[in-house]
Amino acid sequence: MYYGEKVKLRAYKREDVPLACEYMNDAELKAHLGTDVPFPMTFDQELRWYESLATAKDNYNFAIEDLETGKYIGGCGINNANWLSRVATVGIFIGDKSYWSKGYGTDAMKVLMKFVFEQMNMNKVKLFVFGFNKRAQKCYEKCGFKAEGILRQELFRDGHYYDEIAMGILREEWIENKES
Ligand SMILES: CC(C)(COP(=O)(O)OP(=O)(O)OC[C@H]1O[C@@H](n2cnc3c(N)ncnc32)[C@H](O)[C@@H]1OP(=O)(O)O)[C@@H](O)C(=O)NCCC(=O)NCCS
Repeated sequence: MYYGEKVKLRAYKREDVPLACEYMNDAELKAHLGTDVPFPMTFDQELRWYESLATAKDNYNFAIEDLETGKYIGGCGINNANWLSRVATVGIFIGDKSYWSKGYGTDAMKVLMKFVFEQMNMNKVKLFVFGFNKRAQKCYEKCGFKAEGILRQELFRDGHYYDEIAMGILREEWIENKES
């Protein structure tokens, strides 16, 4: 498995499903995730998602586990892998809100980036973040991501439109950050 200073990234287990379902039904968490209509998630949907991991293609998910307590606190992964241009699109969430703003997300993202560059041999990691999600943007900046562009009014939520920001980091920048 892949270790950071505070977390490890490991494969999802069947016993994570109830907590994953709980996390995915938290309104505050969900407000920061995805562009789909935020319908509640049923246990069966979550279980089917878990079962789909076994055959997923170009979609690699890790559970984030707190090293100190062994608790499953969130997830991250590669949502899309372009093997020709060597660009990976990633995503992350910390589902247990008591862990927010304590460095767990940054630690997990750094482990994920190392995996993407060193194991998948990608040249670039990119992600999308809503304009209002300042915590996530700060986390990504700490990991070395740079804002590359704004997708205007990409999200409709709570009766309003919001922008989405594309962020990315190149392999050469990641190596430079590691060495400095
Ligand atoms: C985004 C997320 C993964 C970040 O993980 P985290 O463990 O909370 O983040 P970190 O503590 O590593 O870094 C967050 C930084 O933002 C800062 N921060 C928190 N709220 C902030 C705000 N409103 N404005 C600016 N900075 C803020 C924190 O203080 C911290 O910076 P510091 O280390 O310099 O103090 C996590 O908060 C999360 O899952 N949020 C909900 C889902 C989500 O937003 N997913 C990402 C979708 S793109």
